[in-house]
Amino acid sequence: MEPSQNIYDDPAFFTNYVQLPRQQKGLLGAPEWPALRAMLGSVQGKDVLDLGCGMGWVCRWARDESAKMVKGVDLSETMIAKAREFDAATEGRVAAIDYVVQDLETWMVEPEQEWDVVFSSLTLHYLYDLRRLAQEIYSSLRSGGRFVFSVEHPIYTAPKNPAFVPTPGSPDSKTWQLNAYAEEGVRLTSWLGAKGVRKYHRTMETYLSVLLETGFVLRGFREWMPEAESVGGAKGWVGERDRPMFLLVGVEKAA
Ligand SMILES: C[S@@+](CC[C@H](N)C(=O)[O-])C[C@H]1O[C@@H](n2cnc3c(N)ncnc32)[C@H](O)[C@@H]1O
Repeated sequence: MEPSQNIYDDPAFFTNYVQLPRQQKGLLGAPEWPALRAMLGSVQGKDVLDLGCGMGWVCRWARDESAKMVKGVDLSETMIAKAREFDAATEGRVAAIDYVVQDLETWMVEPEQEWDVVFSSLTLHYLYDLRRLAQEIYSSLRSGGRFVFSVEHPIYTAPKNPAFVPTPGSPDSKTWQLNAYAEEGVRLTSWLGAKGVRKYHRTMETYLSVLLETGFVLRGFREWMPEAESVGGAKGWVGERDRPMFLLVGVEKAA
């Protein structure tokens, strides 16, 4: 296993990243958030852990929804610094969120700390060892606890050259170049001006098998795409009805 790539601490990448609508507007700029929130259910009075918390948008949401304890973990010091900066605005008025800079490839259950909800948004496709992490998450959850996450959809992560091309004979429509679906593992992509951004492709079968073999019970499953009627208004998401970009999953540690 190669050491984790910490692209979010690259200043040039980060400068571009913070311009994205979901970082400018927070959860209002994340079109899949309502579906994830529905899978999360109420977090009132719960202990909530966000793995790959980034700038802490969901941590702050959980805090504002009266979660009992909230912790965010992320590899990037820049992300965690931003999260703390946002939180400083409300310091003293609300319970503090605990942020930790840590690599999820080596993250382990903390003795005597159990969680009711473990959440992760758009982070697990950066990780090599999903099975190990799923087992740690399972061990860290109380009985009846939930693990809810989003990842880039396997149809989105599979291609060696992920791009739409004009559909032959139909120039007004476009086709996603899906290939290499069965070849799990590293994909190097260019994103936000950075080359060699490392992600890991896994099939849908692998995501679900790892969770079920770990002992989780499947509770929710969405291939997020915008509703047909909202496409016109969902600027930037028009292409998402041609192929799903996000996979959302909710599982439970049976009571
Ligand atoms: C696309 S961002 C998502 C951030 C946040 N969850 C959100 O939805 O706004 C992916 C996050 O995963 C973090 N990340 C990537 N690899 C990681 C690793 N090995 N351990 C911990 N965090 C990691 C990155 O630093 C980054 O903050």
